[in-house]
Amino acid sequence: MRGPISFLTLVIVTRAAAAETSTSPPPLNITALSSRNGYSVLECWQLSSIPVDAMSAANYAVGGNTTQAVWSRIEPRTHIGEAWAPHVQLSIILNGLIRITSPAPEPNASIKSVSVQDGLQAGQRPDSKVAYIMPGTLVSSVLIAADLKSLSTIAGHFTEFPSGEPTILVQIPFEGDRVPEHKVLHEGACLA
Ligand SMILES: *[C@@H]1O[C@H](CO)[C@@H](O)[C@H](O)[C@H]1NC(C)=O
Ligand SMILES: *[C@@H]1O[C@H](CO)[C@@H](O)[C@H](O)[C@H]1NC(C)=O
Ligand SMILES: *[C@@H]1O[C@H](CO)[C@@H](O)[C@H](O)[C@H]1NC(C)=O
Repeated sequence: MRGPISFLTLVIVTRAAAAETSTSPPPLNITALSSRNGYSVLECWQLSSIPVDAMSAANYAVGGNTTQAVWSRIEPRTHIGEAWAPHVQLSIILNGLIRITSPAPEPNASIKSVSVQDGLQAGQRPDSKVAYIMPGTLVSSVLIAADLKSLSTIAGHFTEFPSGEPTILVQIPFEGDRVPEHKVLHEGACLA
């Protein structure tokens, strides 16, 4: 009678697993700076990692191995200008505000007719989008920066820290600049 008992056990385990799946937390969405056709672009990424219940928490792996984390303090009202990700990294903001425009606007964009240019050159320079990274919500306070200068060869992103307070960041680079597994939900920052 060992066979049938084993079979019964298997079914019960499977049912339990199915019940867990239906109540498991939703996948993690993180705003990312990526590179497309030589331009830095903002995208909303949905990470492929499956949350694991442990220690009274839903635990999501974010990417693979990481290297040394860095805690950074940026002075109030700092305007960096065009920038690129120094490494593929996860950034978590603890205070202040980052305003990112990507791709970085052309130096003389304001004196050109943007709408005409976009109409004529559709499919070339992507429209610039803006993201605000700030403490508060899950979606507002985390960023994956993956737009390396070797990839965004035409234009990087544009970074400002407009807050009246210092901006505090924890930056965690991924080993080997390995990008976390994800799918792109949409262009621009994640909204919710
Ligand atoms: C991520 O986005 C998907 C699709 O919009 C949504 O169903 C899911 O709830 C989001 N995840 C979180 C943690 O908000
Ligand atoms: C992480 O590092 C460990 C130890 O060096 C290694 O065994 C493992 O394969 C690495 N994992 C990934 C995803 O690179
Ligand atoms: C931007 O415009 C100024 C003044 O019209 C001009 O001198 C400069 O060469 C332009 N720069 C670029 C990158 O087009």
